[in-house]
Amino acid sequence: MSTPAKTTPASTPRTPDPDWWRDAVVYQVYPRSFADTDGDGLGDVAGITTRVPYLSSLGVDAIWLSPFFPSPLADGGYDVADYRDVDPKLGTLDDLDALVRAAHEHDIRVIVDIVPNHTSDQHEWFRAALAAPAGSPERARYVFRDGAGPDGSLPPSDWVSNFGGSAWTRVEDGQWYLHLFAPEQPDLDWENPEVRADFEHTLRFWSDRGVDGFRVDVAHGLAKDLSTPYRPSDEKALPLDGSDPLYDRDEVHEIFGTWRQVLDEYDPPRAAVAEAWAPAPRRVLYARPTELGQAFNFDLLEAPFDAAAFRGIIQRNLAMSEQSGASSTWVLSNHDVVRHATRYGLPTGTDTDAWLMTDGTAPVLDAERGLRRARAATLLVLALPGSSYVYQGEELGLQEAAAIPHDQLQDPKWIRTGHTVKGRDGCRVPIPWTTSGPSFGFGAVAPHLPQPADFGRSSVEAEDGEPDSTLSFYRAAIAARRRLQQGEELHWLDTDGDQGSRSRVVAFARHDGWRSVTNFGVDPVPLPSGTVVVASRPLGDGVLPGETTVWLA
Ligand code: NOJ
Repeated sequence: MSTPAKTTPASTPRTPDPDWWRDAVVYQVYPRSFADTDGDGLGDVAGITTRVPYLSSLGVDAIWLSPFFPSPLADGGYDVADYRDVDPKLGTLDDLDALVRAAHEHDIRVIVDIVPNHTSDQHEWFRAALAAPAGSPERARYVFRDGAGPDGSLPPSDWVSNFGGSAWTRVEDGQWYLHLFAPEQPDLDWENPEVRADFEHTLRFWSDRGVDGFRVDVAHGLAKDLSTPYRPSDEKALPLDGSDPLYDRDEVHEIFGTWRQVLDEYDPPRAAVAEAWAPAPRRVLYARPTELGQAFNFDLLEAPFDAAAFRGIIQRNLAMSEQSGASSTWVLSNHDVVRHATRYGLPTGTDTDAWLMTDGTAPVLDAERGLRRARAATLLVLALPGSSYVYQGEELGLQEAAAIPHDQLQDPKWIRTGHTVKGRDGCRVPIPWTTSGPSFGFGAVAPHLPQPADFGRSSVEAEDGEPDSTLSFYRAAIAARRRLQQGEELHWLDTDGDQGSRSRVVAFARHDGWRSVTNFGVDPVPLPSGTVVVASRPLGDGVLPGETTVWLA
């Protein structure tokens, strides 16, 4: 049998490397909050293009674009009305092509976010489903069911939405539809071949345009057991055997096996990373070479700043990656969680939802400490084998914007929880580019989310060229990683002998003498011998201060 010819995309990066994703530094752009060229308050695609030189100066290998598709923005763009276009509020397809070309000219890859679990309620399929009768092919693309109770006025099951409230909403003719997220995000039925074919079309559509990879939203949610009687689901306590009716079911892997075949039609094959909130041993299944290749590892993002926690997570994840043939991924922040510079500045165990409800006043945030620890954790992570995901603004040391006025909050969680959980807007505030001026250089006079008054102090302008700034630190660390990173080997170093796993120092060697040493404790420890390559903060004479990482060679 002859091998089918590979498809050549419209634009390609300067250096061909099919394995680029295995150890890439990937920078997540949240398009609405990155750079606004038309002054309407929302960041846009052209804005990202103007900042490609900045991203290049940061040294990142790829950018992951959170959704930029047409969307009523009921969930920040994760409610997609058309998977194969650009939201007119954010630009045009030509703008997107120009961004991909500009990124490729700087040898930066582009990853696009695919949202297959649900569409927007404004997607033409859902509009057609509402206009069609129960039992119609239009409704069969989604999960429509009759209600429970004698008159069908109760939801079909007690499943709850991730944003609070029932996961079912009733439509005019009395049927109910399933939505694991907001009611504006109806779930698709992946048993339906039309749904499957349409997403394969979408993968090809963006791959043909030169997109290098995909981030797959709620990858663990596509296969559902919808047979009655409905069994209860509790995502937080997912069983390890694929028996939850809604999440992480074994059947989901068949879908991604098919996707891999589509992604492999391209030269080089398109990369993919699963967002799959499943326990680690099952998460790696999504990352098998026969499926997506990578799955986000959120273990560090959920861990405290603690030596034993970090060491254990790293050991387990490297072992699992080796077994599955995938590369590891490391994530400390993204658009869904409180920024790590803030998390680490709060007492261990703080409930960040409750803290946000106090507008960030109680408990008191130690922002300086949070940033110190965040830089130490980031430098440690950048020394690990595998790929590192960096969320926009963390390279500036941004803190969570905890005091957004209630009437300006946008997260559906805020509404769905009856104003008891603020949600994720605090990490989605537009980036400060300049020390002063309207929206600190973001673009609009009135950005879609208000920025804290002191944001200019953490702007690109304020930090550029300042030797001790967080921006200079990220640039130095990523540049050093680029020079040093090769292979996937890591050897743990004995730090203070008899303390073993209780040690507050985490140290490991990569290759050719490159070592990373993190002091998670407060007190300084002796600095191991060697040449300092980069440190997360200035070092004392012969000592590694507390809450500090150093790379030695
Ligand atoms: C995960 C995304 O990261 C999050 O922002 C979104 O709300 C949900 N999936 C639903 O699409």
